[in-house]
Amino acid sequence: MSQVVFITGATSGFGQAAAHCFAKAGWSVIITGRREERLQQLAAQLALRAPVHYAVLDVRDETAVKAVVAELPTGFKQVTSLVNNAGLALSPLPAQKVDLADWHTMIDTNVTGLVNVTHALLPTLLDTGEGASIINLGSIAGQWPYPGSHVYGASKAFVKQFSYNLRCDLLGTGVRVTDLAPGIAETEFTLVRTKGDQSASDKLYNGTTPLTAEDIAEQIFYIATLPAHICINRLEVMPTRQAWSPFAVDRDE
Ligand SMILES: NC(=O)c1ccc[n+]([C@@H]2O[C@H](COP(=O)([O-])OP(=O)(O)OC[C@H]3O[C@@H](n4cnc5c(N)ncnc54)[C@H](OP(=O)(O)O)[C@@H]3O)[C@@H](O)[C@H]2O)c1
Repeated sequence: MSQVVFITGATSGFGQAAAHCFAKAGWSVIITGRREERLQQLAAQLALRAPVHYAVLDVRDETAVKAVVAELPTGFKQVTSLVNNAGLALSPLPAQKVDLADWHTMIDTNVTGLVNVTHALLPTLLDTGEGASIINLGSIAGQWPYPGSHVYGASKAFVKQFSYNLRCDLLGTGVRVTDLAPGIAETEFTLVRTKGDQSASDKLYNGTTPLTAEDIAEQIFYIATLPAHICINRLEVMPTRQAWSPFAVDRDE
């Protein structure tokens, strides 16, 4: 029986690259996301290497999440690894200029969506037991504050603490939990954050060497395939060309 990975947000970026990594290694791959055409294209590519099942899924929809998990086909039911990757940042403006709807969307996706999927898959992961893993995509924004991070960073701080707390409750079950926290990585993330502003996205990544989707996919695969007695609680990964800045100080003119 091949191992099974369930990936949310597989239509782009880290999730898509991770799907390729697992398929290359012969895992059975469940890919989910909202954009069906992309899922179909990816499924066709992955099917050349491994068993693949795709499901259109908005992680914010609790009923849909339960249905997708309940209707997993034979060969995909016994999930070994959950990659809770679906997520987004919106409005890199100061908090006082952001639409409330954008805050709600980030909370609904990064927090509620992530717990919806975790809750639905926990019984299966517990049944898998030793060697199972939950890999949650956090962010350096969940640890370090920066201007314009407001609810995004706070939602990723939730991911970090939820991961640690899950570790406590899952002790003795064999199920591992990791908060994987990347720094700047070039995906569609900034295009989504700026609501389609390609030049803003290009500006962020130009002239430096950001992480790639493949860099993070390799970390995801590494975590999932560690010996069963090893659990990485939190893995923070930045490009070498990224670090912290000094504190900001408000001064008189
Ligand atoms: N790129 C970075 O710099 C960076 C750094 C740290 C952490 N992260 C985190 O890493 C994760 C992946 O980001 P990425 O960089 O790969 O961005 P991306 O290229 O924009 O991919 C995001 C994925 O999330 C999915 N998604 C968004 N909302 C969803 C929803 N409501 N239901 C289901 N799927 C949804 C998207 O699929 P659909 O639109 O098809 O649904 C897409 O596949 C996110 O959690 C992000 O916060 C990114």
